[in-house]
Amino acid sequence: MATSNEELLLIVDDHPRNIQLLGSLLAREGYRIAVATTGLQALAIAGKVLPDLILLDVMLPDLQGFDVCRQLRETPETAETPILFLTAKSETEDKVKGFRMGGTDYLTKPFEGAEVLARIRTQLALRRAQRQLKEQNRRLEELLQERTRDLVRAERQAAFSLLIKGIVHNLKNPLFTILGSFEMIQELQKEFKENMDFSQTAACIPEICQKTFELVRLGEASARTLSDLIQSLMAKSRSDKRESLEVVDLNEILRQEFSFLQADQQLAYKVKKRVHLASQPLPVEIVPVELVQVFQNLVRNALDALVDKADAELLVESGELAEEVFFRIGDNGTGIDEEHRPRLFEPFFTTKKTPDAEGRTGTGLGLYTCREIVQSYQGRIELDSALGKGTVFTVFLPRWR
Ligand SMILES: Nc1ncnc2c1ncn2[C@@H]1O[C@H](COP(=O)(O)OP(=O)(O)O)[C@@H](O)[C@H]1O
Ligand SMILES: [Mg+2]
Repeated sequence: MATSNEELLLIVDDHPRNIQLLGSLLAREGYRIAVATTGLQALAIAGKVLPDLILLDVMLPDLQGFDVCRQLRETPETAETPILFLTAKSETEDKVKGFRMGGTDYLTKPFEGAEVLARIRTQLALRRAQRQLKEQNRRLEELLQERTRDLVRAERQAAFSLLIKGIVHNLKNPLFTILGSFEMIQELQKEFKENMDFSQTAACIPEICQKTFELVRLGEASARTLSDLIQSLMAKSRSDKRESLEVVDLNEILRQEFSFLQADQQLAYKVKKRVHLASQPLPVEIVPVELVQVFQNLVRNALDALVDKADAELLVESGELAEEVFFRIGDNGTGIDEEHRPRLFEPFFTTKKTPDAEGRTGTGLGLYTCREIVQSYQGRIELDSALGKGTVFTVFLPRWR
């Protein structure tokens, strides 16, 4: 009965009679047939036509059927193709060897038509089922990945909107301070104009100047805090994009940034600098402004910890370790209270609540931003600190290969 099986079977046998016998039996069933008479030929044809099943004679003129089988198994394209050994022998030893080499089943000569067909059908059905299962697995895997991506995206969005809420909340204070100081300056001016008494004018001027000066300073400091917050927000939105990835030498960025920082009065005059950069290049694939941001935030924090410290020292180091490159910012400043450790990387966690000499307060977004950036590159930040002794932050990033 001639049905139209689409499946392609490869018959490997050096005896024309066997080929004829099997060939006509299988062709009658509607299978497509390919033929090889040597082992090498079998390997070449199998690699080209990718048969759905191979009937392989154990005794071939060039290679042993077992060796052909092993080689087919070692080739990814034919690794899972069912292989039925054809043999005149029925010794157990041969069968065991055949199965060990990756054979799927055995047909013993002389062939019995019905048995041959039954075995072939079984193997082909198994193979089809196996393929379907694989395809289903692949689809499931895809779905799972898609779902994970959705979840990660949702998670990030939730975290982001929380961050925005926090920032908006934190924008209010400095903004109100700025507006308040403007109002008070206007109030002062009004008062001055209304009570203009020329006999006293000269005497008031220094006081009014002083008051105005203080109010302007207050406003300015708040404006700076505001600007820091906005900077962090911009860095955050940048870190969600990946448009300007570049391969750069970490050392180059550190060198460049460090020379820019020399403009800072505290760093230039009050801090001893120890810089040890690796002598070899340290390639990383990053958005350079983001790396700069991490570096600046860490140096800022180190300098904050070094205010009023005698023999203040700042350490900048770089190097590589296995698959990673790293840079390290160290200070011999205040150190970090054990209690604060778990919260350091939380957004808005800051111990800098009272304004410094320049009237600045902390935003608590420095380390948070650093960690967000570093993690987006599958990197990590390590911290070593001792209260009263100092702190070292080390940033690890995957080395670009
Ligand atoms: N090098 C350091 N030495 C001591 N404390 C540090 C250092 N770096 C960070 N910290 C602590 O971590 C807190 C959070 O840092 P950060 O996120 O940069 O916010 P901010 O600097 O605005 O306070 C700081 O307020 C400070 O208490
Ligand atoms: Mg900071």
